[in-house]
Amino acid sequence: MPNFILAIDTSCDDTSAAVTVGNTVLSNVVASQVELHKEFGGVFPTVAKQAHKERIAPVVQLALKRAGISPSELSAVAVTQGPGLAPALEVGVEFAKTYAADLKLPLIPVNHIEGHILSVLAKPRTSSSATRAVSKKTTTAVPEMSYPCLSLVISGGHTEFVVVHQPGHYERIGWTVDDAAGEALDKFGRMVDLGYPAGPLVEQFAKLGNPRAFAFPLPMTTTDNFLMSFSGLKTSARRKIEELTAVQPLTKQQIIDLCASFQYAVFHAITYKLNKYLLKRYADPSQPPLFGVWLGGGVAANSTLRKMLRKTVQTYNLDLHVPYSKKLCSDNAAMIGVVGAVHLNENTDTSRSTIERKPNWEVGTL
Ligand code: KG4
Ligand code: ZN
Repeated sequence: MPNFILAIDTSCDDTSAAVTVGNTVLSNVVASQVELHKEFGGVFPTVAKQAHKERIAPVVQLALKRAGISPSELSAVAVTQGPGLAPALEVGVEFAKTYAADLKLPLIPVNHIEGHILSVLAKPRTSSSATRAVSKKTTTAVPEMSYPCLSLVISGGHTEFVVVHQPGHYERIGWTVDDAAGEALDKFGRMVDLGYPAGPLVEQFAKLGNPRAFAFPLPMTTTDNFLMSFSGLKTSARRKIEELTAVQPLTKQQIIDLCASFQYAVFHAITYKLNKYLLKRYADPSQPPLFGVWLGGGVAANSTLRKMLRKTVQTYNLDLHVPYSKKLCSDNAAMIGVVGAVHLNENTDTSRSTIERKPNWEVGTL
């Protein structure tokens, strides 16, 4: 009997539910709240909580319907416990606790960053009739892969380098000390009136512009670690825009060139630290070689970032692995289901009625 998992993510501004089996995605419903938060220029926590509350039940129902699975066929419920916005997380966790308890199913608490990490392992269903005939092969928790791999999670809330020793065994080796890469792009986007979230529009504009038109500093070059920082870039962009607008309002070409230059600066800061890590690792004979570099998180949808990372990792004969669809990059519950399959057998407690949201949960810790 295949282990169908109902997965739920309400960590930020997307209400999402999915049905997965092993690493196969049978359905993945995402109700975006972008329209609700646009006027605030960012995510407004109480608005997010209310929207999650209104949407969670229909989103779960739709995920089951699209997967062709009835609640009685489920083996477990997986839910994002953290990190994320506390009031938003609470809605998913409380819903999942009640749902799992009612159906006497195990509840698997999942780390959202682990979801982004394992999103590269997700596979689409092969045909619409696959649901009931899911073969034994697809019920395997994770595909055969060689480890360790290096995962890069680049999103609106996080910028992390994590060594994956095995699915479930992680070592955080680098992170941002202030803003996340996506957050920096969003804040920059607001300065040039691109709306929220600005990342996708910055990408479109950047394609038309000159990344060398404006010079931005390369941060954290003197530190002998893999920590990153993006808030200085944001300040530098603000100054540059103030300088330009003191003369005249920004021209369209200036906005386009600012997008290209700022995006390049953010991505260069990431590839610089990635190269620094790989250089150090490959110079150390006690470190096992890596078997690939994985990319996840909302900013992972950006094709320029992918290109720059690919170029960096190819120097070390490594491949860059990305999720099978851009929908798997931004927040979604399917990636939470994939993690659920990894941890399914660790959870023997039937309802886990005591779990609580963990807004600051670091991946790789309990
Ligand atoms: O993973 P995600 O949906 O939410 C978090 O967990 O943070 O990431 C959202 C972030 C936003 O900052 C958004 O601007 C950025 O991902 N983003 C992009 C692109 N698509 C989304 N940034 C750059 N290029 C894109 N194509
Ligand atoms: Zn996320």
